[in-house]
Amino acid sequence: MSLQDRFDELRRRHAQAELAGGEERIRRQHKVGKKTARERLDLLLDPGSFLELDKFVVHQTHDFGMDDEKIPGDGVVTGSGRIHGRPVFVFAQDFTVFGGSLSEAYARKICKVMDLAMKTGAPIIGLNDSGGARIQEGVVSLAGYADIFLRNTLASGVVPQISAIMGPCAGGAVYSPAITDFVFMVKNTSYMFVTGPDVIRAVTHESVSAEELGGAGTHGATSGVAHFAGDSEEECLALIRELLTFLPQNNLEDPPTRPTTDPADRRDEPLQSIVPDQPNKPYDMKEIIRTVLVARYFFEVQAPFAPNIVIGFGRLGGRPVGIVANQPAHLAGCLDINASTKAARFVRFCDCFNIPLVTFEDVPGFLPGTGQEFGGIIKHGAKLLYAFCEATVPKLTVITRKAYGGAYCVMSSKHIRGDANFAYPTAEIAVMGPDGAVNILYRRGLERAKDPAAFKDERTAEYREKFANPYIAAERGYIDEVIEPKDTRARLCAALELLHTKRDSNPPKKHGNIPL
Ligand code: HXC
Repeated sequence: MSLQDRFDELRRRHAQAELAGGEERIRRQHKVGKKTARERLDLLLDPGSFLELDKFVVHQTHDFGMDDEKIPGDGVVTGSGRIHGRPVFVFAQDFTVFGGSLSEAYARKICKVMDLAMKTGAPIIGLNDSGGARIQEGVVSLAGYADIFLRNTLASGVVPQISAIMGPCAGGAVYSPAITDFVFMVKNTSYMFVTGPDVIRAVTHESVSAEELGGAGTHGATSGVAHFAGDSEEECLALIRELLTFLPQNNLEDPPTRPTTDPADRRDEPLQSIVPDQPNKPYDMKEIIRTVLVARYFFEVQAPFAPNIVIGFGRLGGRPVGIVANQPAHLAGCLDINASTKAARFVRFCDCFNIPLVTFEDVPGFLPGTGQEFGGIIKHGAKLLYAFCEATVPKLTVITRKAYGGAYCVMSSKHIRGDANFAYPTAEIAVMGPDGAVNILYRRGLERAKDPAAFKDERTAEYREKFANPYIAAERGYIDEVIEPKDTRARLCAALELLHTKRDSNPPKKHGNIPL
């Protein structure tokens, strides 16, 4: 074989691998509005940065005529690349090759890039589009999944792990994305479920479409499995690129700073009037969040799920922060099961990756009701409490209005190692709201009163005067400073600057036992 023949052979092999499942299957993929694995990587990574590994790997199966069906790459494209100049490791499942199903060789390719991500301290991003375990391989394929799950778990809290669902994702295949930190979906072309519509129909006689059962809408708003949904694959991949601008490469680094011209001491008059005079009037906490953040930009996470709590990223003084905020515009900002689990996982993510937490609080308490109690609000609410207690990153809190009862303790209070706790003059820090307190404290008086309504108004006013303010907490040092709303940004930026060098730790242990 001449030298030229050898080069030609290499080029032929490259071309064969790049053609993947063939033109007809690529056409089918495009027809249903999906891109190929390589097209997706082109959109995700900085131009020209992709370095592929294991392009010529093939499966080792002999059964079911598989000897004659070997496609180089075996259905998954793996390697490294850059996003905004920083290295990442990637795998992109290729639905045009055996439906993107996972073989032993394919799993080994994914494990290789996961191991490299761990060794080098770089994020790992998986683009999922797969029919699940490769049926022809049986248990060997299942073993491959388990190898990936183990690596997902060991990498958790070490490097950021991101999953995009860009097609079907069924059976055990959903569990790798579920362990990762953020799940992205594409509206109308991606779905995730443990058991599909056919199995559900056979077992429970329920009729449900794949989209209803596990589409981006369902996992965005109902189950809370997905954190982001793109209208298109392009948008989904752009969102991943954006998320990474807030994250460090690994748990030993600080998140990346970005120079800003937005002055740290910017004072905002409109903030003075966002919190209404009347204690039960709703307002949009996101207005306060946006006003305070650099360039008024808030990158919200899990927006449609449990909107009574708001989570997401922004920057203060050029540094990324994680925001957790009660939302009085939904359920009066009550904490319920979904809000607690949503925020708890976010708090833990930020703590893993050295992202300071800024909490905006207006919470009348935990949502009452049998649904919540039977559903285990006790243990789910405890998750949020545990997460805030455990977090050692800088913790800044602003109480805008209500901080009642257990929810006061939970929302990054001074007592659970809040570093800088501020309150507006409109803050009400008490065991419960005036109405509830008067009903309990004066039950007999109310029964005996000639004019119960007038009696109640009087006692309520008295209670409000005494407790519904920030000063009793401030007198005890539970609140570091009562501030005017317009000074929020300046105070937070100054505190964040001071706390940049904060070091705190938890007692040595194997790991804690968060109430799951
Ligand atoms: C091998 C598979 C496959 C699989 C699809 N294909 N799934 N090959 N193993 N699991 C192949 C098909 O034979 C077909 O090959 C090509 O991929 C495209 O599949 P279609 O069915 O034509 O596509 P579509 O109509 O879009 O349907 C996609 C699908 C469906 C919904 C994913 O293929 C499907 O239901 N597949 C099986 C899903 C499943 O039950 N997987 C096992 C889950 S259990 P050709 O040659 O015609 O192009 C599991 C356990 C993991 O994953 C446990 C871990 C703990």
